[in-house]
Amino acid sequence: MIILIGSKKGGVGKSTLATNIAAFLITKGKDIVLVDSDRQSTSANWAHDRSESNLPQLECVRQYDNIRKTLIDLSRRYEHVIVDCQGRDSIELRTGLLAADICIIPCKPSQPDLDTIPIMIGVINTAREINENLKAFCVLTMTPTNHTITEKADSIAYLDDYPDIKLLNTIISERKVYRDAIATGYGVTEMDNDKAKLEIESLIMEIMTW
Ligand SMILES: Nc1ncnc2c1ncn2[C@@H]1O[C@H](COP(=O)(O)OP(=O)(O)OP(=O)(O)O)[C@@H](O)[C@H]1O
Ligand SMILES: [Mg+2]
Repeated sequence: MIILIGSKKGGVGKSTLATNIAAFLITKGKDIVLVDSDRQSTSANWAHDRSESNLPQLECVRQYDNIRKTLIDLSRRYEHVIVDCQGRDSIELRTGLLAADICIIPCKPSQPDLDTIPIMIGVINTAREINENLKAFCVLTMTPTNHTITEKADSIAYLDDYPDIKLLNTIISERKVYRDAIATGYGVTEMDNDKAKLEIESLIMEIMTW
């Protein structure tokens, strides 16, 4: 299965999700490869840090420009291919979506981020003209845990108007442990934070069973 994490927007938590999904699946004994298609190399740097630890190891491949064929080839060799894209409408995003089974679009619960979702839906629907079984999910990320802030409810209401993508029930909160994990080669499911662990487990469960 090819799971691509993509967005038109930078800094929404794509690499954080890609690395955490990869770490979770590898600790479950799945045969996976992480593809970093962003020259910024956040995921590749994370995988390098991980390679210097005693944690269960994974393959990480850097691949740029037209990544479609590489993703298809990798999906024949690995059970799961996790793809981290850069934060813009790139050739990697467009070509990756032609091969992907699932696209996860992280979105922060704020209006400038929400405004990019209709454009991403256009990108998804263009890919679906060729890759008609492409599933697309939006997940709220870096969401404040302070319940007096209404941005979460407002964002859910906004995204409900877009049936072409499924808004996940799982919400990724703003937690320091996500920053600690990506800086050290860990996944949050390998760290001492039950709330973050539950968020990643529940996200993976939702996308795998939908
Ligand atoms: N849930 C979270 N809680 C706290 N910090 C987070 C969370 N998700 C991401 N961050 C932090 O926010 C910053 C941006 O996250 P990340 O690099 O994952 O985003 P990105 O979408 O991949 O960015 P880019 O578009 O630049 O590739 C990083 O410093 C990361 O550690
Ligand atoms: Mg990134």
